[in-house]
Amino acid sequence: MATPETSVPLDEIRVADRALWAEGPPLETFARLRSGCPVHFSSGFAEYPGEQGFWSVTTQEDIHAVSRDWQTYSSELGGITAISTAVMPLELTRAMFIGMDPPKHDRLKALFQRGFTPKRIADHEGTVRAIVGDVLDGLTGRQTCDLVSDVAQPVVSRVIGRFMGIPPEDDAIWARLMTAVIAAGDPDVSPDGPQTVMQRDVPEIFERCRTLIAARREQPTDDLTSVLVHAEVDGQRLEEHEIVMGFFLLMAAGNDSTKATYCSGMRALMEDPAERAKVLADPSLIPGVVEEALRMFPAFAHFRRTATRDTELHGQPIREGDKVVMWYVSSGRDESVYEDPDRFSVTRNPVHQAFGAGGRHFCLGTALARLELRLLFAQTLERYPRMTLAGDPRQVESPFANQLKSLPVRLEG
Ligand code: HEM
Repeated sequence: MATPETSVPLDEIRVADRALWAEGPPLETFARLRSGCPVHFSSGFAEYPGEQGFWSVTTQEDIHAVSRDWQTYSSELGGITAISTAVMPLELTRAMFIGMDPPKHDRLKALFQRGFTPKRIADHEGTVRAIVGDVLDGLTGRQTCDLVSDVAQPVVSRVIGRFMGIPPEDDAIWARLMTAVIAAGDPDVSPDGPQTVMQRDVPEIFERCRTLIAARREQPTDDLTSVLVHAEVDGQRLEEHEIVMGFFLLMAAGNDSTKATYCSGMRALMEDPAERAKVLADPSLIPGVVEEALRMFPAFAHFRRTATRDTELHGQPIREGDKVVMWYVSSGRDESVYEDPDRFSVTRNPVHQAFGAGGRHFCLGTALARLELRLLFAQTLERYPRMTLAGDPRQVESPFANQLKSLPVRLEG
């Protein structure tokens, strides 16, 4: 049967139009693009008429090529998402190292890399385990809950809050603010629209952040905010806006991403009891569940680059200044890499691009995200092996934030 996804001719598709994303990523559209037009041009956006169109890169091989070549595909020139300035002006994006090119990018990222190695992150295992345990303890006596707001959000907020030095009583405020920015445009998350997020929520984030910075200037601790405040790059302290945006980047990345992959992974396990039974019988499969959930449900649907010169990708000429969007939601389903890509298999153990496709911007938080996901899946399955869906899961409407906003469950099945 023809659907809006299958009936529109390839050259008329505008991949980021929100209508295509109402039920989640438009997987049929991406499958058509991978086979018929793997480097595809969208002429614009329904919601942002003034925005320049963009190239969509949809296969794993091509995304790898773009991600590795920062000289040709810049993170700094034009922003890091398909829509350049929906919520954040370009100069603020450029103050985060995710929006910088080398050499400055490398120098700033290096400040944090030591703290995020698998070995250093493993030191936090006991703490993260206790946070997950406490949050699950809070469900005692309840029949139902929402896995997004009752489990995932409080866990990820406390974990990143602890890294950044935020007091636990402020977790909920930060969660609301960061989600409003990441999922701006979704009518439930930001009912007043992206402009209001920019005018109201972003200034509140900055104000709260400045208060914390002032406290750490006065009295450094061992948290990451103190690292930012006292960091020196090439003999110079960071400027205030660079500290604020460094804080913002870590908070945003830590708050939303793991939550997204955990919830979508739990949903997949509930929808396929035979796969779940394999994990319940053999918990050593949990690390594989984590990788499979990352492959099928990458927290960020895309990141974007801007071409620094005329070039060619998969035979397609790209002009200097063009936007080039890497769709991880597509590369995780690439049939030239994975057999039966739309099936959630707990024994597949895939290599994927959910954390980026290599190169300078490869995710800083992979070890932390994997640790959180492993402990979240393990403890949830151990305590609630018969959990079932108790209503329709609802997806954030966004071509960037690939996450559920609601996942109602019955705890005892
Ligand atoms: C499931 C969890 C996560 C996913 C799927 C994820 C995904 C990604 C992706 C795709 C990028 C690359 C962006 C690009 O190529 O431009 C990235 C970068 C980044 N991630 Fe993660 N992330 C996750 C968790 C985290 C966590 C927990 C943190 C911790 C603070 C974190 C911090 C960062 C930072 C700082 C960058 C920028 C790296 C750079 O520009 O060099 N991420 N992440």
